[in-house]
Amino acid sequence: MSRIAYVNGQYLPHGQAVVHVEDRGFQFADGVYEVWSVFDGRLADFDGHLTRLWRSLDELRIDHPMTRQALEMVLKETVRRNRIVEGLVYIQVTRGTARRDHPFPAEGTPPSVVITAKSLPLSKGNALAAKGVAVITQPDIRWGRCDIKTVGLLPNVLAKQAAKERGAAEAWMVDDMGLVTEGSSTNAWIVDEEGKLRTRDAQSNILRGITRAAVMALIAEEGLELEERAFSVDEAKRAREAFYTSATGFVMPAVSIDGVKIGNGKPGPIATRLRALYLEAAERDAI
Ligand code: PDD
Repeated sequence: MSRIAYVNGQYLPHGQAVVHVEDRGFQFADGVYEVWSVFDGRLADFDGHLTRLWRSLDELRIDHPMTRQALEMVLKETVRRNRIVEGLVYIQVTRGTARRDHPFPAEGTPPSVVITAKSLPLSKGNALAAKGVAVITQPDIRWGRCDIKTVGLLPNVLAKQAAKERGAAEAWMVDDMGLVTEGSSTNAWIVDEEGKLRTRDAQSNILRGITRAAVMALIAEEGLELEERAFSVDEAKRAREAFYTSATGFVMPAVSIDGVKIGNGKPGPIATRLRALYLEAAERDAI
């Protein structure tokens, strides 16, 4: 079946789904994005991702492309037209099309909106999670506003490529103090030597992951101890467990960091349990 993309008000076959050469997303990475996972044709953590999209737009003073209700309809329609059962839906909103010039274009320039969807069977992620994945570390060379989900992802792309070239699934980025910030497209977690769950404080320079927030709620429900405090690469390597969270990976156990085995080299019990709980809740609450 052919894929359909939404581009500025139209549903188009992928081959015809294009934006202008002077779209500011293309010229300046002047835009933001969001990713929802799809369960049974329904979108998971719907409000969380939509609220963060609105915040990203507001932080960059990009006009809202439509109302929340209208956007909800278009996202669901894109999923429906692509017949996605398990997969992802992606939206990108840019500051629109204008003659190339750094300052913002004239007021009233409409933002560009692109929405795509793709299938991704849950069984594939589950198989990966059952084995656990390798993680490497890379210096964090990003800008100071990583809390905004912009399409300016070049450092993330380079970090992920470095991971791929070393047979790893993710790169954890490390700040000047030797502390892990987050993954190239995920939030980073450990169960430290004392058995305490740790993830970096989201006031700092990381994306406030929607999956991270959902997992935090599950941790509280389970009565587990969590500390929102950055950890060093050394602490991560000595941890009992390591894992990462995102809308695409859910909760993914990491079994090595820079080639150093974590725990017994198998997915840990806490990460495995949190993955199961997250999937159950996300599927139940998807709309
Ligand atoms: N990435 N940190 C970064 C840098 C991310 O790009 C992402 C998401 C996350 C996790 O956020 P969430 O739980 O809300 O998905 C953390 C998406 C999935 C992507 O770039 O495809």
